[in-house]
Amino acid sequence: MIKIVFATNNAHKLSEVRAVLGGDYEIVTLREVGITEDIPETGATLDENASLKARYVYERTGLDCFADDTGLEVEALNGAPGVHSARYATDGHDFKANNRKLLRELEGVTNRRARFRTVISLIRDGEEQQVEGIVSGVIATEESGSEGFGYDPLFIPDGHTVTFAEMSAEEKNAISHRGRAVAELVKLLR
Ligand code: IMP
Repeated sequence: MIKIVFATNNAHKLSEVRAVLGGDYEIVTLREVGITEDIPETGATLDENASLKARYVYERTGLDCFADDTGLEVEALNGAPGVHSARYATDGHDFKANNRKLLRELEGVTNRRARFRTVISLIRDGEEQQVEGIVSGVIATEESGSEGFGYDPLFIPDGHTVTFAEMSAEEKNAISHRGRAVAELVKLLR
């Protein structure tokens, strides 16, 4: 099996990606290749951050690798929280606080259009390529569901009446930003 490093320690993401790629690739995490420090995400865009993370891993390990960066882009907030999605409300990854802040910012706002966008940078034999995946939808007026993570309880994808957090992992993966970006990644890898 071909070994490839996924620049994450996020268990949710890892299981999402393994569900799609696990049959063909041995996907190893940062921890498994001995990278325990936080990789700087100082880019101004999702594309820059995905690239920074992948290059960091490649420079340290010399292994084929990929890194993703995701943001929730809300139309009425001019694309915010975007690249700042993880640290929208606080410095930490406080999902509850982020969701509360998003609902506050959208109080009384009728345009609730939003999209998740995932950018993946793949480095193979030192060559970098980027793909993206997008899912559009709306931000609900209250949280529903307990599956998934992050903004899932607030995001209703187009063509559906429930949030990502009310879907099974399989249902979400089939239509999600990350699922779509990973599908593009698979095309590159095959
Ligand atoms: P990351 O840079 O890919 O780790 O994503 C940044 C932030 O976007 C996360 O901390 C979450 O708040 C949010 N996010 C990323 N992917 C998802 C998802 O699939 N559902 C809900 N929120 C997500």
